[in-house]
Amino acid sequence: MAFQAGSFLPCKGTLLLLFSLLCCHFGVGEGQYKGFRRLSRVQGSSSSSRRGALDEQWFPQKLDHFNGADRREWKQRYFVNEAFYKPGGPVFLMIGGEGPANPAWMQYGTWLTYAEKLGALCLMLEHRFYGKSHPTPDLGTDNLRFLSSRQALADLAHFRTVMAEARGLTDRKWVAFGGSYPGSLAAWFRLKYPHLVHASVATSAPVHATINFPEYLEVVRHSLALENAECPLLVKKASDTLVERLKDPKTYDNITTDFNLCSKLQIQTEMDSAYLLETLAGTFMDVVQYNEDNRAFEGVVGTNVTIKVLCGVMTDSTLGEPYARYAAVARLMMDTFSMKCLNASFDTYLRDMTNTSWDGPAAGGGRQWVYQTCTEFGFYQSTDSPNQPFTGFPLEYQVKQCANFYNVSAEMLAEAVAQTNEYYGGYDIRSSRIVFPNGSIDPWHALGITQDITPDLTAVFIKGTAHCANMYPARSEDLPQLSLARDHVLLLLQQWLK
Ligand SMILES: *[C@@H]1O[C@H](CO)[C@@H](O)[C@H](O)[C@H]1NC(C)=O
Ligand SMILES: *[C@@H]1O[C@H](CO)[C@@H](O)[C@H](O)[C@H]1NC(C)=O
Ligand SMILES: *[C@@H]1O[C@H](CO)[C@@H](O)[C@H](O)[C@H]1NC(C)=O
Ligand SMILES: *[C@@H]1O[C@H](CO)[C@@H](O)[C@H](O)[C@H]1NC(C)=O
Ligand SMILES: *[C@@H]1O[C@H](CO)[C@@H](O)[C@H](O)[C@H]1NC(C)=O
Ligand SMILES: *[C@@H]1O[C@H](CO)[C@@H](O)[C@H](O)[C@H]1NC(C)=O
Repeated sequence: MAFQAGSFLPCKGTLLLLFSLLCCHFGVGEGQYKGFRRLSRVQGSSSSSRRGALDEQWFPQKLDHFNGADRREWKQRYFVNEAFYKPGGPVFLMIGGEGPANPAWMQYGTWLTYAEKLGALCLMLEHRFYGKSHPTPDLGTDNLRFLSSRQALADLAHFRTVMAEARGLTDRKWVAFGGSYPGSLAAWFRLKYPHLVHASVATSAPVHATINFPEYLEVVRHSLALENAECPLLVKKASDTLVERLKDPKTYDNITTDFNLCSKLQIQTEMDSAYLLETLAGTFMDVVQYNEDNRAFEGVVGTNVTIKVLCGVMTDSTLGEPYARYAAVARLMMDTFSMKCLNASFDTYLRDMTNTSWDGPAAGGGRQWVYQTCTEFGFYQSTDSPNQPFTGFPLEYQVKQCANFYNVSAEMLAEAVAQTNEYYGGYDIRSSRIVFPNGSIDPWHALGITQDITPDLTAVFIKGTAHCANMYPARSEDLPQLSLARDHVLLLLQQWLK
């Protein structure tokens, strides 16, 4: 698999790849795919109702919901788990996001615990343009104009309506679930289609679109400092040293060796250095966002690299200067994911991101999700804040990629992001029966709903947890506040479904 940066990329890739910064997923990186396949094998021996939940099914969907004159259709993938359904029970709809819908969610996860308690039928719909849900023959920029959260919500509405009729579930109460971007969709589905969905659980959901998102790295700094106050300072020292060395081409051979780059470092433009610096910072971003989430379980490949481990390396003076420790972190991640070397060339990244084939290196979600950031959300995790340890990948670098990959200018991006907030309301969402669980060390909470708006538009704050922690299966070693948060969401659902 190609080794690419782009810190807002979805559920794919290794940690060093930065590919997973907005996604709740099982397992990690390439391991996500390996883990998924292993999971399927593990599950092959389990009960038939569970095995049935892994079977993919297909739903005919309109290409363009907003043009009655366009009758083109495509097939959208979905999954059903009837194991917990009791006649008269509610229907739970897990919303797919910016990567392949992972059938692991049909077998594991807190929502199934709720389904068991509440007798719910469980469905999961893959997001258009991700995984196997291909509305168009390729990912050309002209085709990507059918990729948007609005089209995705209209897919959900149509799916909800037709499935309810087909299965006699029209008078059942439907509840939407999602984490991360699908968490936002869960909230917006309730907001825009209140007659179709009774309540939503919108976990770690960024509801406020913003072009520049420098707060992300501020939370990374804060989360590292909670582990060890020295840690972010040492990261800053290391990163500053690297930036300094990048000014002198004579150091490039050493940098190539230190960070085990796949080819000799070449810096022709600012995009090249920004890409390298972002790729290396990405290790820290990923580990913080998914701290303790990405554990191995039930045959899923996980990692034991946590904030504690990274800060342990950064504070280990036997490894040499902070710069050498920073390099050691990069090599630790490569070892963890059995990667031979680090691809740090922006040209390679550009080539991969502009490949429009469904078999292309970024078709797992990278090309699609960055398109959505350029045309709807922004969310660029820039180094523009002084209150964070990294340097060298400013907003301009991120915005230029919109032009490089999709011919979207900075002005178009600005208008699109403003329109997204105008359409959904941003932080000022007006709705009811939506709960927003919120993890304190998850950098995305900065764009989420973190305070109750009304009694039934409510936040659940989970101190000390990362992105989407409450969605994963409970473990004995979970923090008590995480278990309480799961219980609290169940209570709300019981109340709302009465
Ligand atoms: C690095 O990029 C090249 C060219 O795209 C690719 O063939 C190679 O597999 C990549 N290596 C890694 C370790 O990702
Ligand atoms: C490269 O590393 C070697 C060994 O650490 C060191 O002696 C040399 O001065 C470095 N070269 C440059 C240009 O920094
Ligand atoms: C992670 O786990 C593996 C296998 O259990 C072990 O060999 C390795 O030392 C651990 N790494 C860290 C950093 O704890
Ligand atoms: C796109 O990726 C596919 C699969 O890796 C490859 O076969 C094809 O040559 C690439 N296309 C371009 C234009 O690079
Ligand atoms: C890029 O966009 C500009 C302005 O919208 C347009 O004139 C130009 O033809 C586009 N270029 C490509 C390669 O699509
Ligand atoms: C959600 O998280 C933020 C940031 O950690 C915290 O300040 C806020 O109090 C939390 N919200 C609630 C409702 O607990």
